[in-house]
Amino acid sequence: MKILGTGSAVPKQTVTNDMLSDFVDTNDVWITTRTGIKSRQIITTERFEELAALAGQRAIEAAGLVPEDIDFIICHNVCNVYVTPSLAALVQGILGIKGPNCPTMDLNSACAGFTYGLEICDSFIATGRAKHILFICAEEVTRMVDWTQRETCVLFGDGAGAMVLGAGDNYLASKLTSTPMPDVIYYRLPCEPTPFETGEGIDTHIAMQLKGREVFRMAVTSAQRDIRDVIEKAGLKLEDIDHFLLHQANQRIIDAIKQDFDLPPERFHSNIQKRGNTSSASIPMLLDEEIREGRIKRGDLMVFNGFGAGFVTSAAVMRY
Ligand code: COA
Repeated sequence: MKILGTGSAVPKQTVTNDMLSDFVDTNDVWITTRTGIKSRQIITTERFEELAALAGQRAIEAAGLVPEDIDFIICHNVCNVYVTPSLAALVQGILGIKGPNCPTMDLNSACAGFTYGLEICDSFIATGRAKHILFICAEEVTRMVDWTQRETCVLFGDGAGAMVLGAGDNYLASKLTSTPMPDVIYYRLPCEPTPFETGEGIDTHIAMQLKGREVFRMAVTSAQRDIRDVIEKAGLKLEDIDHFLLHQANQRIIDAIKQDFDLPPERFHSNIQKRGNTSSASIPMLLDEEIREGRIKRGDLMVFNGFGAGFVTSAAVMRY
């Protein structure tokens, strides 16, 4: 599998830390020193599925293709207003890709979803069942948080990162893990009531909850382990890797991982300062930005690493 082109899209509304302190008890110094985040983009008037489709359109153009060339759309998304149809089916309609020969489906592996999705794409590409997959990670996490809870609402942003994947030998190794720990990060929505429900409070709505310190520790430990494992699996050495693109959850997490590896610091890329944590979209958005700004070039070796609710982790080595 090979990346043929990338794209990304963010909402037009930028929200600074100072803007948040207007309505929640927080401040720029706390957010900056604890997370590295200075601003983020937040969905306002945009339609979420159109944002996802825009990232996809940009990836198709970067690949030198047209929408009709796409024969599979896979979206990764944790939450949006449509439980069904899938985001991928909505994107297909917006891009004007007529059926029935372009199947669509969504995945959900929380903030680690980008590499989980790559793994699924690789299985379709490697077996020749798809030629050009449009893979989009799109998230509107700012609609999952309680905006009166300063512990969570300051951390997130919205956005979409996309790529077109085709045949090639550039996907070198991967590692996916999952450990059942549902109380560490979760978000619950109520389903429709039925006359047969038993018990009270089964379907209560609970805005995003996270045990930040626990997640922080697990993220650093798992990343140090998974990155080493996946590089070894690829038959490479740490110093062979040109770029590390880690889930953008907290600059301090990225710095702690960076410190563990004795490598030039510029190999660890970051855009959390201006984007916040955009869940599964964070790595493909960062990748697209770094490619477009010329910092990642064809032939470079990259490591992707993510973690999130589950508790799930993922890592991959890929050549651009
Ligand atoms: N503004 C000001 N103060 C805040 C605040 C905010 N937005 N959020 C929390 N605080 C306060 C707390 O109330 C606490 O006050 P106290 O000492 O008086 O009790 C203090 O800051 C420290 O809070 P704590 O939670 O211990 O901070 P932390 O250093 O662990 O940083 C996170 C919190 C969330 C930034 C950090 O743990 C983290 O990044 N975790 C992982 C991120 C994550 O879970 N992402 C989601 C999954 S990808």
